[in-house]
Amino acid sequence: MKIEQKIILSNTINVALIVLIGIFAFQNLNNVLTKLRFMEIADELNASFLEMRLSEKNYFLYRDSAALGEIQEKIASASLRINASRADIIRAIGGHDLKELENYLGVYASTVREIQEEQSTGPQAAAKLRATGKKLKEFSEEITKTEQKRVNEIITGSKKILAYSFFAVLFLAGGISHIISQKILHSLRKIEQLAKSISQGNFHRIEDTRPNDEMGALIDAINAMSEELGHREDQLIQSKKLASLGILTAGVAHELTNPLNNISMIAQTYAEVYDRLDKDQRIDFMGKIDSETERIREIVKNLLDFSKPQKADQRPADINSAVRDSVRLMQNTLDISNIDLNMSLSSHLPPVFVDRHQIQQVLINLITNAVQAMAPGGGLFIGTRSGKEPGFIEVTIKDSGKGIPPEYVPHIFDPFFSTKGEGGTGLGLSVSYGIVRNHGGDIRVESKVGVGTTFSIELPIYHRKEQTDEHHT
Ligand SMILES: Nc1ncnc2c1ncn2[C@@H]1O[C@H](COP(=O)(O)OP(=O)(O)OP(=O)(O)O)[C@@H](O)[C@H]1O
Ligand SMILES: [Mg+2]
Repeated sequence: MKIEQKIILSNTINVALIVLIGIFAFQNLNNVLTKLRFMEIADELNASFLEMRLSEKNYFLYRDSAALGEIQEKIASASLRINASRADIIRAIGGHDLKELENYLGVYASTVREIQEEQSTGPQAAAKLRATGKKLKEFSEEITKTEQKRVNEIITGSKKILAYSFFAVLFLAGGISHIISQKILHSLRKIEQLAKSISQGNFHRIEDTRPNDEMGALIDAINAMSEELGHREDQLIQSKKLASLGILTAGVAHELTNPLNNISMIAQTYAEVYDRLDKDQRIDFMGKIDSETERIREIVKNLLDFSKPQKADQRPADINSAVRDSVRLMQNTLDISNIDLNMSLSSHLPPVFVDRHQIQQVLINLITNAVQAMAPGGGLFIGTRSGKEPGFIEVTIKDSGKGIPPEYVPHIFDPFFSTKGEGGTGLGLSVSYGIVRNHGGDIRVESKVGVGTTFSIELPIYHRKEQTDEHHT
């Protein structure tokens, strides 16, 4: 269910509960009002019944025959009052009690009438009238009291139920919002993790079961974005590679010139001295040509390999030989800029687990930057040693160039950040960073303006078991 639907549903449940509570409170209030209206009538009736009893006393004490007339007048007005409010009374106490009340009133009225007709003032008549009057008054007072009690009960009951339902609604609303917010927070945490790992160059997916709501749609979108970024990074690496080819071509051309010159020289000499050579010497000449051709084939193969698009294909590799090959490819550039190269490659280093071509590309990018930062005649140091972190090997490339101003340092790994104008695309370091992070390594920089810059790359050491397994899955 979508979050929006969940919120609408929980709001609807709460509104329905509030409406129910409102209806309940309204009905109880109506009930109380009906009962209060009855109590008003009952108070009036009770007062007139009390007056009847007083007139009763007057009749028997002072033989005041007018008192009976007064009683009858009161009975008539009480009956009128009852008739006028019949509906209200029935609603409050029900038809049965009303009938009984009217019964008592009827019996009392007929007793009064009898006494009036017989003009009797004896103790028997007095006792009869007193008994019926008493019953009428007692019954009326009793239903009044019962109703009073009912009103109290309804009010206390309503108070309790209103308090309970208030807390129930509060609890329900709180509970539902808590559950919804927890779910949203859970998804947000996943998205935060993914965003962090994307920012570190790891373009993977959130593989967890996705919620079937807006957060799920967001996770899908981020997954798609992550994949797309992964593709783009591959493309970026490839395009940077092609850009590096330009630089490499100069080096490669230089590399090719030597064996080609050698072949040409050997061929010329061979032609000149052919007659004087014995069989073994001729074979030796041809062998030299063959080995020079082999060198050319090797250089061309390297160039082709380098230009091919490649996924990181991590294999055990010797870091020193990767460094040497990169330097060889850059040798011409170093020579042209008259760079004094100093290498310190630690022997006995364990193999690293890398895509050799990609790591060479990183080294070439860093060496190119170093050369570009130095005036001709600068000093370049390249070293390998055990990493500061266990399980890693460190490659250091240190130049005596112009250095990086501190305000640029946070941006040098950003794509397209370059201070070289037309002379740079600003992709070198960002691609290198992506490659190294992709290998599970790290790349750091230290720089001082006017002194020089040091880049350090940490690369993972090859661990026979897990990495081979990983490699094959
Ligand atoms: N060794 C260094 N010394 C001084 N500044 C450097 C060094 N390495 C990098 N920088 C600075 O970092 C910026 C970014 O380097 P990056 O390699 O990403 O791009 P670029 O060299 O400008 O262009 P590209 O490598 O794409 O041709 C450079 O423009 C430069 O200002
Ligand atoms: Mg560069």
